Amino acid sequence: MADRISLISVSSTMKVMADADKLRREGVDVVDFSAGEPDFPTPDNIKHAAIRAINENYSKYTPAGGSAECKQAAIDRHKAEFGTEYKPSECIITVGGKHVLFNYTQALVNAGDEVIIPVPYWVTYKDIVNYAGGKCVFVDTDEQEGFRLTADMIEKKITPKTKIVLINSPSNPAGGVMEDAEFEKLYHITSKKGIFLLTDECYSHFLYDSTPYSVASIKGSKSTVLVAGTVSKTYAMTGWRIGYGLAPEAIIGAMMKLQSHSTSNPTSISQKAAIEALNGPQDSVPQMLAEYRRRRDFIIPRLRQIPGVECSNPAGAFYAYPNVRGAMTKGGLQTPLEFADRLLKEANVAVVPGEAFGTDHHVRISYATSMKELERGLDRIHKFVEALA
Ligand SMILES: Cc1ncc(COP(=O)(O)O)c(C=O)c1O
Repeated sequence: MADRISLISVSSTMKVMADADKLRREGVDVVDFSAGEPDFPTPDNIKHAAIRAINENYSKYTPAGGSAECKQAAIDRHKAEFGTEYKPSECIITVGGKHVLFNYTQALVNAGDEVIIPVPYWVTYKDIVNYAGGKCVFVDTDEQEGFRLTADMIEKKITPKTKIVLINSPSNPAGGVMEDAEFEKLYHITSKKGIFLLTDECYSHFLYDSTPYSVASIKGSKSTVLVAGTVSKTYAMTGWRIGYGLAPEAIIGAMMKLQSHSTSNPTSISQKAAIEALNGPQDSVPQMLAEYRRRRDFIIPRLRQIPGVECSNPAGAFYAYPNVRGAMTKGGLQTPLEFADRLLKEANVAVVPGEAFGTDHHVRISYATSMKELERGLDRIHKFVEALA
């Protein structure tokens, strides 16, 4: 094995999904809260665009960094929502949002460079920084404050080696949202020091108390702001694998070079589907958000009724991140992994243990699943915790 492969670990989200899947194939009725993807189907207009593309034989290679039309669609959508102005040479289409994040770290991070990552973090950040030879510098957020991040918290961790500050707002797994003014303050701090501000806008459309914001909307911010976007969650298109990056031309060029020797272009058919998603009617987005809100408003009070469980109210995305410290203590469980393992085996509910996100007393519950499943799952968790001794 190459040494670098030991720098990364198997995604724990994938592991729980695999364990749950194994049980299901054995005939066990599992309630699965582990998947981080919308339960909605891709909207019809998007599906039809892909079917049209197939029938019209749009089945050849496109340019490695995406077709001109797809890049323009990503640029236009970002402009319509945030007033940004990007040229096609400042845009890349990738195989999902994860891919553009991977490309950014590969293109920018040298051995020993520091990347600041707020905790709790999406599991992949740590591994892609490590794989690039960088050093993760973690910043704790305050659970009592809804895991909200401030510019001051980040500033304290900046050193001469800081290369990138990576922000995900709203966040996976806790739904924490950085206030627009704090984001702006952070931009001024990082840009003055020549540090890149990488904004993962994966869940930016799923906000319950505020409207979507992009730090890239700050005039003159282009040289240090790196946007990572994806159609996966916004348009219920996780399987289609289309993401995009908006960044300075030289960085896009470097990522294009990398992509041309690895994946080549993202699937041509999926690009056509993404063009329709980005250019077409947007009404499916608020409809999905309204449903996520309904589910959030059901699940959070329900979790809080369970003895030994506390839960902050997520301000965005579609995850609850309950603190199960009390329940763990009651059951003599040392880690969230142990909690999740027992919950899966004894109550047949799949959740993701907090170790994956850098915390010691939480599990992640995805509520991108039907109300019926939420009710069944919450009942099971309640009974499981009550029976712990
Ligand atoms: C925070 C965050 N960023 C990026 C992604 C990447 O999504 P995709 O690669 O499906 O576009 C995910 C997916 O779960 C995510 O949770």
